[in-house]
Amino acid sequence: MLRNRYPCYLASEAVQPNEALEVRDKYSGEVATRVALADAGMIEHAIAAAASAEPAMRAFPPYARQAVLEQCVARFRERQDELALALCIEAGKPIKDAEGEVTRLVDTFRVAAEEAVRIDGEVLNLEISRRADGYRGFVQRVPIGACSFITPFNFPLNLVAHKVAPAIAAGCPFVLKPSEKTPIGALIIGEVLAATDLPKGAFSVLPCRIEDAGPFVSDERLKLLSFTGGQVGWDLKAKAGRKKVVLELGGNAACIVDADQGGARIDRVVERLVFGSYYQSGQSCIKVQRVYAHRSVYAELRLRFVAATKALKAGDPRERDTFLGPLIDEASAERLATWIAEAERAGAKRLCGGGRERNRLEATVLEDVPRDAKIHRLEAFGPVTLLCAFDDFDDALARVNDSDYGLQAGVFTDSLAHATRAWDRLEVGGVVVNDVPSFRVDNMPYGGVKRSGLGREGIRYAIEDMTERRLMVLRG
Ligand code: SIN
Repeated sequence: MLRNRYPCYLASEAVQPNEALEVRDKYSGEVATRVALADAGMIEHAIAAAASAEPAMRAFPPYARQAVLEQCVARFRERQDELALALCIEAGKPIKDAEGEVTRLVDTFRVAAEEAVRIDGEVLNLEISRRADGYRGFVQRVPIGACSFITPFNFPLNLVAHKVAPAIAAGCPFVLKPSEKTPIGALIIGEVLAATDLPKGAFSVLPCRIEDAGPFVSDERLKLLSFTGGQVGWDLKAKAGRKKVVLELGGNAACIVDADQGGARIDRVVERLVFGSYYQSGQSCIKVQRVYAHRSVYAELRLRFVAATKALKAGDPRERDTFLGPLIDEASAERLATWIAEAERAGAKRLCGGGRERNRLEATVLEDVPRDAKIHRLEAFGPVTLLCAFDDFDDALARVNDSDYGLQAGVFTDSLAHATRAWDRLEVGGVVVNDVPSFRVDNMPYGGVKRSGLGREGIRYAIEDMTERRLMVLRG
């Protein structure tokens, strides 16, 4: 069960201000709990504390950072049922997906604990010409300083972990603003961190109103902004001043099914496509949104994909056999219903789904969607998938690239030539061969190109952003 009220974490301490934010159960719509709401004064205090904690965090040795991260891993394991239930309630995430996210939270902190003691430098031979005779260079990586993190609602634990765990490993203090729709996961991480030996003031976890959140972006004491969310990230970058900016801003991921995937193979392809399309109701930046199947396998795939989609069990996310839970809010379901209707008016065929009740939208399959329809061009972030046949593999690659986004893409093929051509030509951050673009394990470099963002997460890659190279030149 959730507690009645959760504190926020200000400069490493639990704080319970008068103001509170209601967090609703996304399935029942009822208020599930209340969490502390930070005001502008608390945000200022948190940023000042993070900036002041820079020297202490820098001096906190790698083995001590590792010990903090390992302690977190142990606490998360002990509290895994509580964490999964919190996600299930605050995000409406089906319990099995919620349990999967807790496993990933543990993975992310576990890998960060390993990386904390591997932040090495390099020795450079500087003798590239006579004038550098007798010179050597040494590079060490030093923490960038206080970081600002803003996280979304769809992975309330693991997308927080992807910022917090590398920051601890790198020796950076931080302030975090979790999604106001799903703050509980981040607050439990804050509670666990508050019981560690992290230097005083090194972290704050502050749910707050959007109108108070400006300093998370613009305050010059913060050296890096890492934001995961929607296209508003580009506006934040424009307001971020001199700080380094990392953006993970979603996509409209495509998956190609090659001509050699028919017959006995198609069942596994369809099983993965259905998973990638509808897990956590499609609220993932790498959900399968566009499927391009070779014409020779298209009819078979379409038949099976639609049948499997219709068979998905929708309902209460607490029930173990529920696959499709609610969307985060009614506005999201309404937006998608509007986009589906717009596509149908423009000639798309709805093969199943489309029905909506409050924040619940049926798993929906569309075909023949015009390329300028919103559901084709923009990020669905919900349970809608588009099917399309292609005749030529290169044409399929071009269609995948015909998007403003480029996060991940999938290609089912037995052809090594096609796999490598996809890897070479697709304008994305990652190509997944023989699985859906929705595949992610937490140590891989993860991030996109085009409107999908800037930079990469995945612990080691985040640590690179959170550290600066500092050179020493030695003569003689
Ligand atoms: C995302 O939605 O960007 C995260 C996807 C994932 O971590 O699996």
